[in-house]
Amino acid sequence: MVARKSLQSTEKLLKEHSQSQLLAFWDDIGPDQRRDLLGWIEGLSWADIDYWVADLVKKAPAPDIPAGLDPPPFYPAKPHDEPQRAKYAQAVEVGTELISAGKVAAFVVAGGQGTRLGFPGPKGDLPISPLKNKTLFQIFAEQIRAVCERFRAVCPWYVMTSPLNHDQTTEIFRENHYYGLDSGDVFLFQQGTLPNFDFEGRILLEKKDEIACSPDGHGGSLKALYESGAIDDMQRRGVEYISYWQVDNPLINIFDPLFIGLHVLDKAQMSSKTIEKSGPFEKVGNFCIADGKLNVIEYSDLPDELAEKRNPDGSLVFKLGSIAIHIINRTFVEKLNEKGFALPIHRAVKKIPYIDAQGNSIKPEKPNGIKLETFVFDALPLASTSIILETIRSEEFAPTKNATGIDSVETTKQMMIDRAADWLESAGLEIPRKADDSPDCIIEIAPGFALWKEDVPAKLDKIPPIKPGDKIYLA
Ligand code: UTP
Repeated sequence: MVARKSLQSTEKLLKEHSQSQLLAFWDDIGPDQRRDLLGWIEGLSWADIDYWVADLVKKAPAPDIPAGLDPPPFYPAKPHDEPQRAKYAQAVEVGTELISAGKVAAFVVAGGQGTRLGFPGPKGDLPISPLKNKTLFQIFAEQIRAVCERFRAVCPWYVMTSPLNHDQTTEIFRENHYYGLDSGDVFLFQQGTLPNFDFEGRILLEKKDEIACSPDGHGGSLKALYESGAIDDMQRRGVEYISYWQVDNPLINIFDPLFIGLHVLDKAQMSSKTIEKSGPFEKVGNFCIADGKLNVIEYSDLPDELAEKRNPDGSLVFKLGSIAIHIINRTFVEKLNEKGFALPIHRAVKKIPYIDAQGNSIKPEKPNGIKLETFVFDALPLASTSIILETIRSEEFAPTKNATGIDSVETTKQMMIDRAADWLESAGLEIPRKADDSPDCIIEIAPGFALWKEDVPAKLDKIPPIKPGDKIYLA
């Protein structure tokens, strides 16, 4: 039985914050549900809710763009001159040593809802490889295994889920026997959630006894790593660097010695990879320096005149797009949490399933409310030092956001084939091509066959001649 006092104090709390609708179905629900609902309500961040409603939900805050934005320095994908070539070579050595010593962990954020993709289940379980239909999780696991074998190291894998997909994700890992990895080296943990609001600032109910919540954004990873014990686990293992990526990018190069090495040589705390934007308005965040600090400004917030500003040679001034690939120091995450930190909260207008005042479940056809989230790149200005390394889009960035069209399953599969074809061609093999220059064959390279382009030349004797229409799996 829920104590009467507890109910009364919750009613009072809700009234003070104009959220009494959360108990609208109290009379319809049983004792266990009542207890859960009260627990849920108590767990909300009441100190913040009024501010969120006033400043983020009822109105969209004007973008807070600092004056005097400058483009940041960055390391180009290929070194420009001899001193830089020497530094890259040194960085590769440093990165290789650190990976071999087990000081680098893999960390994928997989807590998102993947609403645009519409795949039923955690996104990591999406079959994506062009021939074998390997899932995203399997592709990452194979890469981690190949790195462990190559470097004779233990490279632990941390996977962030959310309360909305944690059980399902855990089950998928179990059913797939952790994709051949040692289950003791795979650490699944959950991020936090934030409540969903209607446009008037009322928190929505998903069921009569459940608040509508969504994961607190990939920025939630920095707290969740700490609170889940993942950071402690890393410390016990001697992990110092966290290689962060998004679950929807199968082209990720998880353990990149160059990136790790440059980050360490420059004594950085949180670093990023970038690609050159395809145009001024590509929908990726923009790396900028503001008040001497590195920031990522969302594409929707960067004023048009800055987005279109060009250098005398015609290139974009703000050309560096953020692709959500980072190296983060374990101690940086520790220190942030020890001293207490809060990332800015952003609003997103979304379609949010809810129950109406009559208790009917509604699946809205158009956006009906606001979700709140934090972004991991908002931690960049908190880092004392940060480097940016350019990478090539076709090598490392295939975001699988949508079911069809741009950034979709189809475009990702094609990019996987294109990259495989490029790797073989660079090693001197002939690839049949169509009139539009795309490969006239399907090639899939397993991470165990080649982790990087440079691995292919040593394997040429294992690759058959490729004819138009061939389907070639290299493992
Ligand atoms: P997206 O911003 O693409 O969001 O996440 P999403 O939830 O996957 O997809 P939509 O917007 O609903 O269609 C980028 C990465 O950040 C992770 C996602 O799992 C993905 O790897 N993410 C996002 C989280 O881990 N937690 C979150 O709260 C949000």
